[in-house]
Amino acid sequence: MNKIKIALQKSGRLHVESLKLMNDCGININVCYKDKLRVLTNNYPVEIFFLRDDDIPAYIQDEIADIGIVGKNVVCEQQKQFLIKEKLGFGACRLSLAIPKYTIYKEIKDLYGKRIATTYPNILKDYLENKNIYSDIVNISGSVEMAPDLMVADAICDIVSSGETLFKHNLKEIDQVFISEAVLLCCTKNENKMLIKKLLSRIRAVKNAKVNRYISFYVPTNKLDEIYLILLKAKSIKNKLPPMSYPIDNTKYSYVQYIIEESAVFQTLYSLEMNGAENIIIFPVQALAMSNA
Ligand code: PRP
Ligand code: ZN
Repeated sequence: MNKIKIALQKSGRLHVESLKLMNDCGININVCYKDKLRVLTNNYPVEIFFLRDDDIPAYIQDEIADIGIVGKNVVCEQQKQFLIKEKLGFGACRLSLAIPKYTIYKEIKDLYGKRIATTYPNILKDYLENKNIYSDIVNISGSVEMAPDLMVADAICDIVSSGETLFKHNLKEIDQVFISEAVLLCCTKNENKMLIKKLLSRIRAVKNAKVNRYISFYVPTNKLDEIYLILLKAKSIKNKLPPMSYPIDNTKYSYVQYIIEESAVFQTLYSLEMNGAENIIIFPVQALAMSNA
């Protein structure tokens, strides 16, 4: 193997974030070429395929591409969950049922006997069966949000992210069927090949970096016990190591540094200040490799 083939969404919700992830991994993709199906990069042995998201799982399964980024919704609809290597922490969305804004609706049973248009017939079928609702699933290939206006269906089941598409088409969300986010696909057969292993390690390091922050500060040495308790409460879940501290010569202070969860930053900052920490600096992290990540 002298090049990794990566399948990304050509346009749509995940396109920009997928390119950003590649860029954060040090792979510069010239977006001027995005109308092409295949793009080469000059700073990493990679070939990018820009595809319709629905085609990405098959490219991975058939080993035309080595790695792919796609919504979990697409993979589960195609029943190819075995290709999922890991979640990527972006592209959060939900597969939801929606109906025209002015339709009266009380409960899910109101969909009994109604026509529901979707490009996700398998996920929807499972969902309705679980709830004992018998509806007519109208399987269409795109522009699902137009179906009620075109009298093709009474309701739709489609991906909602910002909600803008539903809003523009005068539809209201009534129930969530499936929660999704971007996932990384890779053939198990290929994941140990050196170039792929190296790329997977970069992707994980970037992913860890996004949800963690580096914190450093000075604190009176006699306060270290309290400080350690605060930091361990805020630590990155993957971090097995304790905080690092060392005394500053000829002072009663120590210098402390650690990696903490991004979501815990401000609560931790406050608790540290209350316990005598000074000159607290929070740094963004560019890449973070952890032994068990
Ligand atoms: C989905 C869905 C809507 C849009 C909803 O498309 O079909 O078009 O996202 O997002 P919004 O709530 O932010 O308006 P997606 O990009 O997942 O792929 P698709 O075009 O292949 O359906
Ligand atoms: Zn699609």
